[in-house]
Amino acid sequence: MIQIDIEKCIGCKACEKDCPGRAIKVTDGKAQSVKKCILCGHCVAICPKNAVSIPDYDMADVEEYDPATFHLDPETYLRAVKFRRSIRNFTDEPIPRDKMERILNAGRYTATAMNLQDCRFILVQERLEEFRDLVWQEMPHVLEYLQYTDRNWHFMFSRFYDRYQKNPKNDTLLFNCTAFLLIASNDRLDGGLAAANIENMAVAEGAGALYSGYMMRMVGESMLLKEWLGIDDKQIACCMLLGYPDVTYKRTAPRRKADIIWK
Ligand SMILES: Cc1cc2nc3c(=O)[nH]c(=O)nc-3n(C[C@H](O)[C@H](O)[C@H](O)COP(=O)(O)O)c2cc1C
Repeated sequence: MIQIDIEKCIGCKACEKDCPGRAIKVTDGKAQSVKKCILCGHCVAICPKNAVSIPDYDMADVEEYDPATFHLDPETYLRAVKFRRSIRNFTDEPIPRDKMERILNAGRYTATAMNLQDCRFILVQERLEEFRDLVWQEMPHVLEYLQYTDRNWHFMFSRFYDRYQKNPKNDTLLFNCTAFLLIASNDRLDGGLAAANIENMAVAEGAGALYSGYMMRMVGESMLLKEWLGIDDKQIACCMLLGYPDVTYKRTAPRRKADIIWK
């Protein structure tokens, strides 16, 4: 539940008007929580007197808005989106823990349907080599299954496996990333949205990412990998490879014309 500090509340109704679930009513000049809500935190964010808190959340993480120090320039933002590239070639340097925490925070603060916040961020960094070995050990079993269920993926994964067997450095699944991230969520869109912010934050930290549909399929077909990672009964929303890019792009990449319907 939300908590309202009655001493601080001035009964301005800002929280009542902004509450998406109509869970706050101002009576006798004081705001009151009148029913269970989704704990979206709008009341915390909008209160001019900082009178609202959510004891279940980390309130120390809440930041005050100051237009003098916070400004998102649209030109810079669009350029950041355009300059972002999928990274398939990484340096050996691992992303330090503090930076990785900030990168994952960009996922944690992303919108979720009904504010469910049920994304699980499974980050494999320290045990990456163990995981890499396990992935390739699983490949023959996955190939055996795909042979009967999905000929296209079987063909593609067979080629990947041949290349890896010739030289384990030819790893088309994990490349030479220094971290693997799997986002598990009951709502795959929530996980996908979190992934996009994580990728942008990784770029802001000087790192880079690759979304991996191949790893999604690989993990999805292997009970052993799912258990090792700790996905439980959630869905695999996104797999990403992370690390510092060992490549510099000189310019943005072109795109098709936008398919937009203006009405
Ligand atoms: C959901 C998704 C899955 C992807 N899976 C893979 C993958 O398994 N392997 C790979 O090399 N690239 C993968 N990519 C990267 C795309 O090929 C890449 O985004 C596209 O070619 C455009 O390049 P850019 O990201 O540098 O702009 C994936 C991208 C997305 C969005």
